[in-house]
Amino acid sequence: MKRLKISANGPVLSRMVYGTWRILDTNPTVQEINRRIHECLAVGITTIDTAEIYGLYEVEEQLGAAIALSPGLRNKIEIVTKAGIYVPCSSHPEWKTAHYNATEKQLRASLEKSLRLLGTDHVELFLVHRPDWLTRAEDTARGLNGLLSSDRILSAGVSNYTTSQFELLNSHMDQPLVTNQIEFHLLHSDPITDGTLNQCEKQEVLPMAWSPLAGGRIFDSGNPAAVRLEIAAKEMSARYSDASLEQLAYAWILAHPSCPLPVIGTNKVERLETAAKALEIELHREDWYALWEASHGHKIP
Ligand SMILES: NC(=O)c1ccc[n+]([C@@H]2O[C@H](COP(=O)([O-])OP(=O)(O)OC[C@H]3O[C@@H](n4cnc5c(N)ncnc54)[C@H](OP(=O)(O)O)[C@@H]3O)[C@@H](O)[C@H]2O)c1
Repeated sequence: MKRLKISANGPVLSRMVYGTWRILDTNPTVQEINRRIHECLAVGITTIDTAEIYGLYEVEEQLGAAIALSPGLRNKIEIVTKAGIYVPCSSHPEWKTAHYNATEKQLRASLEKSLRLLGTDHVELFLVHRPDWLTRAEDTARGLNGLLSSDRILSAGVSNYTTSQFELLNSHMDQPLVTNQIEFHLLHSDPITDGTLNQCEKQEVLPMAWSPLAGGRIFDSGNPAAVRLEIAAKEMSARYSDASLEQLAYAWILAHPSCPLPVIGTNKVERLETAAKALEIELHREDWYALWEASHGHKIP
């Protein structure tokens, strides 16, 4: 699988990234999580995306234990983690209301906890998970700048930032932000028109596209857009070696000129292989627009 440097000062990541948000959904053992990482490596996915909050603050610890099972595995992968979302749960009864916190103090504390749980002394990429409406950008930037200068994080980026939030935080950074990880898929194509992907192109940073299959909703037979997509995919499949809707949905994201890196979330090994094969698809212009048309249920303006 191709590897891409995501910005001038950013890390080199695999063209597709494996996301661990749902990894505990099937109650896997640590050995099974370790196997999943090896399955990712087998198809060329070396970048693992996680976050402090995943699995209600439990995923990082399981992931760290799984990585530790194979000596040398840590050096074969790039780890992306995120901080800044705090929700009440059994392990954190002290929080009464879900809130964001991207202050310097919180980012430093969260990152240190993530490193400890992941069993590593650095991560390749650290993201502010969501913009914190109650913190000045200088404060967030101070946190990221401090972590960069201590080499606890090799690069810093954001997730779910609007273009103005990205620009504001970037203006306080010692090194430019290296990505914006955003929701981008056939059922959520706003980043094409709201300036988010244009900004990435202008800043020469590659976006990361979360939930590339809309979290599975593109297969929901009760969703009219999904049904239209299924019909459109059937019509064009033969032109792409019988590609499935799943593969065409990845190809649709991959084809955008801002070069997004899909962050995939399956818990099934065969779907990792299916995803990797989508990299071979080069969608024809009219088919790309036909998928847009199917998802929206009307022609382009
Ligand atoms: N930055 C953020 O705010 C943010 C937010 C959300 C997610 N993320 C990241 O993005 C990653 C991916 O998110 P996601 O899990 O929503 O991605 P996704 O790949 O769009 O969705 C994965 C879901 O779709 C199902 N699925 C896949 N192929 C299918 C098929 N052919 N038929 C039916 N169902 C199918 C999977 O089930 P199976 O397991 O059975 O395949 C799984 O439940 C996360 O793990 C996380 O790392 C980031």
